[in-house]
Parts: sequence; structure tokens; C-alpha cells
Amino acid sequence: MSILDSKFVKELSAVTALMYDKGWDERNGGNITVRIDAAEVENHLDTNNVLRVLPLAFDASKLAGEYFLVTGSGKYFKNVIDAPAENLGVIRVSSDGRSLDLLWGLENGAVPTSELPSHFMCHIARLAVDPEHRVVMHSHATHLLAMTFSHSLDERDFTRTLWQMCTECLVVFPDGVSIVPWLIPGTLEIGEATSAKMSANRLVIWPQHGIYGAGRDLDETFGLIETAEKAAEVYTYVQAQGGVRQTISDEDLQALADAFGVVAVPGYLNV
Ligand code: 13P
Ligand code: ZN
Repeated sequence: MSILDSKFVKELSAVTALMYDKGWDERNGGNITVRIDAAEVENHLDTNNVLRVLPLAFDASKLAGEYFLVTGSGKYFKNVIDAPAENLGVIRVSSDGRSLDLLWGLENGAVPTSELPSHFMCHIARLAVDPEHRVVMHSHATHLLAMTFSHSLDERDFTRTLWQMCTECLVVFPDGVSIVPWLIPGTLEIGEATSAKMSANRLVIWPQHGIYGAGRDLDETFGLIETAEKAAEVYTYVQAQGGVRQTISDEDLQALADAFGVVAVPGYLNV
């Protein structure tokens, strides 16, 4: 079967179009990497046919031999659906973790997202705590980005506000959100800071830039960012309407966590 008909290319094309439509990923904003099983890649590609070898600026040996579907650097999410082979690529990490084999896509000399160091470091961090982890997603989700200008950047405060804005938030991300300092995108430094947070939280905010999410599949990861972004949107309306007059009490949030069998970050609820 053609790789264009593969589940992984179709799903990534659909989600990038959706994220663009939501206004979260202007121009080339945002990037996504998906870990794919070798057997699934082999259904669509000759894995001995390496199209290009791309250097890697850091040691990814913990991902040696792993296959990823990635978005290209400078590529627009809005264009993926009509031209997947120009905007996406399938890569394999070399055995020494110092280069990538390109097996499909990234046509016309394109390269993987400039945020590959952050993505790979986050994959390594998440795989250490969840062997079923597959997806890292970065987006410039509008209301979350706006909140990083007006809200305290204390992780507990930020998480509590999001939990209070929609009842389902605590159920969807009981692990909360973490926040790194403002850092230069695409650097190893921002990758190290983000991945250090990723062991404990699947959502990491980049102030004045966007958000990182991690999950077991595209739906789960998109849903995670979508839920946090919805809460940030509600927060924006609440602020515009004159601020909070009543909210969900910590006792009610604890009862919610108990009812849904989730554990809130210890110390985040005053109960
Ligand atoms: P890329 O086009 O290299 O993926 O970068 C976009 C982006 O959002 C950087 O943070
Ligand atoms: Zn970005």
C-alpha cells in the first residue's frame, strides 16, 4: 500500500490541517513527530533504501533504530494535506544516534523540524516513564500563548487556573502543566529544559511562544493540547467579562479526581 494511504500519514495530515484551522499554527509555526513501529514502516517502504543521510547535532543514541514521521522545518501545516511528501518525512535514527536516514518525503531538499532536538529529548524522557509513548506535538496555541503574558508563570498557579476553567481539565491533565523559562527556539538548551519537565508533565509551556504536548497517539496528544487551550480560552473570556466571581472549590476538584480515579499533582489542591 502506498505510504500516502498509511494510517500515520493520513492522521498527521488531518491533524495539521485541523491545527492550522484553529489558528494555532500560523505560517510554519508548530511541529510534530510520531514514533512508528518498524513493522508498520515496512508495510509501506523499503527500509534499506536510504534517500539521504542527515547529521544530528546531539546524541540521540537512546533512540537508535527508531522510526519517526516528522514535519519539515519551515513547512506550513496548512500545506501538509495536499503535499505530504514535501512537508513530512519518515526518518530512522542511526545506530550511533548521530545521524538520520531519510526513507521517505522531505522532498526538494527539505529537512526535519528545527525543533528536532527538543522533540527527541522529549521522546526519550517520555519513553522512560511510558513505553507506549509515541507523539510529541508543538503548537502556538493562541490563548495559552496569550496567558503567558498576563498570568503568573508559577506552574502551580497556572495549572490551578486551567483546572478551574473547565471541569474536565483535571481529569484530562491531572499531571498539570509545567513551564520553562523563555529560551531560544531550536536550541539544545530549550530541548534539555523541556524534556526535564516532560518526565512529570505531558504539557510544557514555552512562555511567549507556545506549548509542547506528549502522548500515546495523535488523538490523545491533540486532545491534551486542545483541552488546555480551551481552558485558556475560557480564562480569556472570564478576564474580559470582569474576572472570576466564583469558581470550582478545591474540595470539589478533589472529589472530581476521586470520582474519575486520577491523582492531582501532590500539593496543588488545598485539601
Ligand atoms: P520549524 O518550521 O522548524 O518546525 O519551526 C517552527 C516552530 O514553531 C519553531 O518553534
Ligand atoms: Zn514554535
